[in-house]
Amino acid sequence: HAPVPADGEGYDVVVVANRLPVDRDGTGADGSPRWKRSPGGLVTALEPVMQSQEGAWVGWSGAPSSAEDDVTDAFDWGGMHLVPVGLSADEVAGFYEGFSNGTLWPLYHDVIVAPEYHRTWWEHYVAVNERFAAAAAAVASDGAVVWVQDYQLQLVPAMLRAARPDLRIGFFNHIPFPPYEIFAQMPWRRQVLEGLLGADLLGFQRPSDAQNFLRACRRSLGLVPRQQAVEVGGADGTRRRVRAAAFPISIDTAAMDALARTEAVRQRAREIRTDLGDPDTVILGVDRLDYTKGIGHRLKAFAELLDDGLLAADDTVLVQVATPSRERVEQYRLLREDIELQVGRVNGAHGRLGHSVVQYLHHSYGREEMAAMFQAADVMLVTSLRDGMNLVAKEYVASRHDEQGALVLSEFTGAADELGQAVHVNPHDIDGLKAAVVQAVVMSPREQRRRMRSMRRRVGEHDVQRWAHDFLAALRPDLADEVPA
Ligand code: ADP
Ligand code: G6P
Repeated sequence: HAPVPADGEGYDVVVVANRLPVDRDGTGADGSPRWKRSPGGLVTALEPVMQSQEGAWVGWSGAPSSAEDDVTDAFDWGGMHLVPVGLSADEVAGFYEGFSNGTLWPLYHDVIVAPEYHRTWWEHYVAVNERFAAAAAAVASDGAVVWVQDYQLQLVPAMLRAARPDLRIGFFNHIPFPPYEIFAQMPWRRQVLEGLLGADLLGFQRPSDAQNFLRACRRSLGLVPRQQAVEVGGADGTRRRVRAAAFPISIDTAAMDALARTEAVRQRAREIRTDLGDPDTVILGVDRLDYTKGIGHRLKAFAELLDDGLLAADDTVLVQVATPSRERVEQYRLLREDIELQVGRVNGAHGRLGHSVVQYLHHSYGREEMAAMFQAADVMLVTSLRDGMNLVAKEYVASRHDEQGALVLSEFTGAADELGQAVHVNPHDIDGLKAAVVQAVVMSPREQRRRMRSMRRRVGEHDVQRWAHDFLAALRPDLADEVPA
């Protein structure tokens, strides 16, 4: 396959993300590459958008390239045109595990763990951003829209603009943008801001993220924000306006709702409860195994509620699904050990033969199984210490066509701005978290219905199609009609 369509003119819409929607999963018996769906919210959100578009998706396949077994040609998958970018083992270590997930991820999530600053990681970050920019430039048609995604690719907008001044460039940050007092730690803060300012439009999850970005431009670059925008000098001496605004991301609500209504999923939800021993209360957590998700805080609150006798060990099960994530990064290894130790302790103290109070599952599941789990859960726990949006909270709501179930939601998620009828918590406040869990467990069906209806209305009206439409329409108003809302 050639990376551009047969007419040789390139794609009119190009998404660039560190991840492709698929992750390399070894090689099949016939020698062809095998793929599985990539983890995380970025892929969940962008996949339905790109499936309804004639665009290309430029990204990494999730595995280091090796000379004999690398996919370099563009290919079609799930109704999308995918253009792979290869990373060597050194680049995976320096760019992905290092600068992206050892420096930027903790820095942008309130320094929950200490970010590390290494000059060699930065060099890999620059080099790999160059490669993504070149790959996007090679497949974009004249005057195309290129939409760059997330913290791994913050230098791409300026690199692309230098190579292809004809393009209309957007950038969306899926994670928070930190307050300047924290951002200022970064030795390469000016370069990062200048990289982002190559875009015409910068999208963030919350208004406060956009404000933090504009404030960083003022403090670091001396630019004066006016009406959610800054002016920067163009290559030809002209001035260019760069806008920064909030575009809260969402899910394919109708698809999730339809899936949850199928007889197979409803049946599976009943089976799950039976398999768990038909407890009175099923509590659920679904996260990538990441220190931003507050899984330890959640387990601590749950254990204390059992200790205090406020939850009955015989009649309650906490199902914690923790998708493996970034397993070669030290902090993620430490987290896994901590969580698994904690789970072992709670089960040791409160389990009995044939019944564990915490069912801990360190794997990924298909969409049907997730929808069934959401339906089987009386209470959903989202206790992130910091989270750009948190799509799991929205998926839970979209799965509950029965208008039952209670959502406990951290106020430190983007989703909390939209889901005012969830039970909001500060996960650092363990007593407050315990009270919120009890409130959710004893909530009357009527109260659940009242709250769930309101949240379902919100998620129904603000789905990911609308998010993409709003962003692209703001980036290029003439495209507004081509992207379904
Ligand atoms: P993040 O992007 O930080 O991982 P989000 O909550 O925004 O967090 O998105 C996570 C996405 O990954 C959701 O679509 C969720 O359903 C999916 N997911 C999380 N854990 C699992 C799992 N164990 N199996 C399958 N999908 C999962
Ligand atoms: C979050 C990030 C995404 C990332 C995903 C999964 O959603 O915002 O950019 O793709 O987590 O993480 P991973 O490191 O496996 O791509």
